[in-house]
Amino acid sequence: MKRLISGIQPSGVVTLGNYIGAIKQFVKLQNELSEADILVFIADLHAITVPQVKEKLRKNIKELAALYIACGLDPSKVHLFIQSEVHEHNQLAYIMECTAHIGELERMTQYKDKKVKQVLGVKSSLLTYPALMAADILLYDADLVPIGDDQKQHLELTRDLAIRFNNTYGDTFIVPDGYFTKNGSRIMSLTNPTKKMSKSDENPKSYILLLDDINTAKNKIKSAVTDSDGIIKYDKKNKPGISNLLSIYASLTAYSVKDLEIKYKDSNYATFKKDLADVIEETLLPIQRKFNEIINSKELDEILDDGKNYAKKLASRKISKVYNKIGLGRKI
Ligand code: AMP
Ligand code: TRP
Repeated sequence: MKRLISGIQPSGVVTLGNYIGAIKQFVKLQNELSEADILVFIADLHAITVPQVKEKLRKNIKELAALYIACGLDPSKVHLFIQSEVHEHNQLAYIMECTAHIGELERMTQYKDKKVKQVLGVKSSLLTYPALMAADILLYDADLVPIGDDQKQHLELTRDLAIRFNNTYGDTFIVPDGYFTKNGSRIMSLTNPTKKMSKSDENPKSYILLLDDINTAKNKIKSAVTDSDGIIKYDKKNKPGISNLLSIYASLTAYSVKDLEIKYKDSNYATFKKDLADVIEETLLPIQRKFNEIINSKELDEILDDGKNYAKKLASRKISKVYNKIGLGRKI
């Protein structure tokens, strides 16, 4: 049986871009790979490589877990847990720091990008972050790791570390492969459609949050930037606004972009936007309903407890094996 693992950072509010580009893809994977053992965790230890506020972090962790369930992650198919609750992640991360070389870590482009943005000094964990990520994966003997393109380099390093450890201490880790989800389209800002939709944009009209008030979300669609020629046609270069709205519409319904072009051939932007606003409502309403139902429920805690117990069982076995291979402590 193949095992898949993936982590998601609890880095704040979740946008429609995150939903289409990441969450929806994950739910699809869960349904397509019904035979696989799938673990998904909230990577809270990764989040503290940059400054966080305690109360916000707590809230984000729980909200992200609840949102994943609300968006269709099925706890009977996926083990969902919180990274920091399985201490073996830290234990193996240290071993991975003893396996990786500083030069390798310094070459990571994400480190180089994030480093320059730090105002209060660069935390050493920002550099060692890929050792923790390698530990997250190798701890569970995962075969496949669903990730976006931006994590490709970290996965390559994970493979190198697994191979290096195996060569030094004998076969211990499975060398994992990336599973590159064909990202649903890249969703662009509603106010500046040549820029990615991002929660860090200072204009809240540029993004839709999964937990936005429904009318607010609908109005954001209605006021989205388009152009003046009035033709509903996909042309990313010359008509980025309407093309983005077509992508969103197609991602959330069974229509393809082509179908939509035909459907709205003799229509106008106002009608198209009104229909898309209704699609947004149909998408967000059930997610928010489910979210509100479980965010403070015992059910959510039980799901996270079950996930933690399952992960712990696998992780504790693995870490004992690794310590023995290295010669740490006394033989057990
Ligand atoms: P972030 O919130 O930027 O850390 O991204 C988390 C996940 O959501 C990543 O897998 C991204 O690829 C995906 N994502 C973020 N923003 C967008 C967007 N505007 N369009 C599509 N996918 C996105
Ligand atoms: N680093 C990933 C990100 O920022 C999250 C992550 C942490 C992860 N550990 C992982 C993804 C292990 C896959 C497997 O998106």
